[in-house]
Amino acid sequence: MSYQILVVDDQVSICHHIHAILENEGYGVGIAHSGDQALSKLSSHPYDLLLADMKMPGMDGLELFHRARKMEPNISGIIMTAYASISSAVKCIKKGINDYLVKPFEPESLLLVVEKAFREREMLREIRDLRKEVNQKYAFGNIIGKNYKMQAIYDLIKKVSPTDARVFIHGETGVGKELVAKAIHFNSRRKNRAFVGINCGALAESLLETELFGHEKGAFTGAIRKKAGKFEYARGGTLFLDEIGDISPRMQVRLLRVLQEKKVERVGGNESIDVDVRLLSATNQDIKEKVARGEFRVELFYRLNVVPIHIPPLRERIEDIPLLVKHFMDIFNRNLNKNIMQISVKAMEELMQYHWPGNVRELENVLERAFVTTDGDTIDSVIFSLNRRNTSFGESLVNVDVDVPFFSARSVVVNRFEKAYLFEALKRYKGNVSKAAKETGVNPRTFWRKINSYGLDYARLRPKKNRESHVRV
Ligand SMILES: Nc1ncnc2c1ncn2[C@@H]1O[C@H](COP(=O)(O)OP(=O)(O)OP(=O)(O)O)[C@@H](O)[C@H]1O
Ligand SMILES: [Mg+2]
Repeated sequence: MSYQILVVDDQVSICHHIHAILENEGYGVGIAHSGDQALSKLSSHPYDLLLADMKMPGMDGLELFHRARKMEPNISGIIMTAYASISSAVKCIKKGINDYLVKPFEPESLLLVVEKAFREREMLREIRDLRKEVNQKYAFGNIIGKNYKMQAIYDLIKKVSPTDARVFIHGETGVGKELVAKAIHFNSRRKNRAFVGINCGALAESLLETELFGHEKGAFTGAIRKKAGKFEYARGGTLFLDEIGDISPRMQVRLLRVLQEKKVERVGGNESIDVDVRLLSATNQDIKEKVARGEFRVELFYRLNVVPIHIPPLRERIEDIPLLVKHFMDIFNRNLNKNIMQISVKAMEELMQYHWPGNVRELENVLERAFVTTDGDTIDSVIFSLNRRNTSFGESLVNVDVDVPFFSARSVVVNRFEKAYLFEALKRYKGNVSKAAKETGVNPRTFWRKINSYGLDYARLRPKKNRESHVRV
């Protein structure tokens, strides 16, 4: 269908003249002689462009455009005026008008601005579509991340969710293990039944046992009434065993029996209760190592680990940081009733260079703190939960990501390298900065400057008796 243009001018002859020119070019054209007439036409017919005179009796062109936008948010606008001035042009642009035409004008000028307005419109539409696509691609529900490993996790979630396969989620603290577990549940056929989580690491053995399996009245002192366990609560739904790596050998055996028989017995009871529960488990420990050391039963591990999902730490997917920052900024603006729209380049660079031992949860906390302390509309600085001097350098130094501009990506890697190198040198020379500088061939002043900028705690590396005597420069 051709583009639809509504021409609005109180001078009837001008309207007809313009109508003829535009129609000749194949555009669909409507005519109105006042703002009110134009609005009523807009309410009954979809138009792509409003071509309106600035000065008309009653509603002027800008006011008309303003009201038209409320009805049709994507409508483009061109204003015609006999009194061109810089200030009126600026006013037009500020109001979102695409262009303006000074009367009288040649047909060619008219066609030029109309074509330009439609080109811009197409571009905007493409950007909107692209943005939508990007948003869909770089998120899975409320899990955000464009790193290829995260994308592979989204694919895996999609594949395993409809099945009843047991999934074992592994990853450092705060990487989003529970978020992934919930995504699996809420994309499964069990989504309308319960998602029950239990932190196995936080409970003593006997308490964990009664929490998981329930107990009969009088099963032990204090068991004054019968209590259902999490397995029963989760019937028909999903049970998420968090921190599974911490459970005791006896509980491992008990759990294994439940998995084999698909039945539970309450503590102190002898009735077997059928449980149709999907099991998801998670740990931040090296579970294979625990299996190898004989601390975790291999049969139980195989039964739980039908589909493994490893979530990489945040420092291995720094390209996700800007997306997560935006995601959390949106959330905090809503929850804290703020309107913070930006973050300074410096603050963003700091976020991208930090090693994030607490992963996404830590990023969330750091941003929340920044929100509370920021008054204007820009986050200028961020404060990390851990002093950056506690950095561990086990991280990989090179993580090439061509989505990040070359110079930013390079500076992230160079800074990581420098930090790691200087820290190792300081370790080797037991916190003696002059010696470390000399032995590594770095100018001592440069060495000191970098120690300070990276917040390296050289004093901690000194032999104990000298520790208190460090000086800050
Ligand atoms: N990819 C992500 N996108 C958006 N939010 C995330 C993402 N990963 C984690 N989060 C958020 O970070 C916080 C921590 O996530 P979650 O509790 O799932 O981590 P976890 O791995 O279970 O941590 P822990 O090992 O400490 O139990 C939550 O608020 C969660 O919503
Ligand atoms: Mg968790």
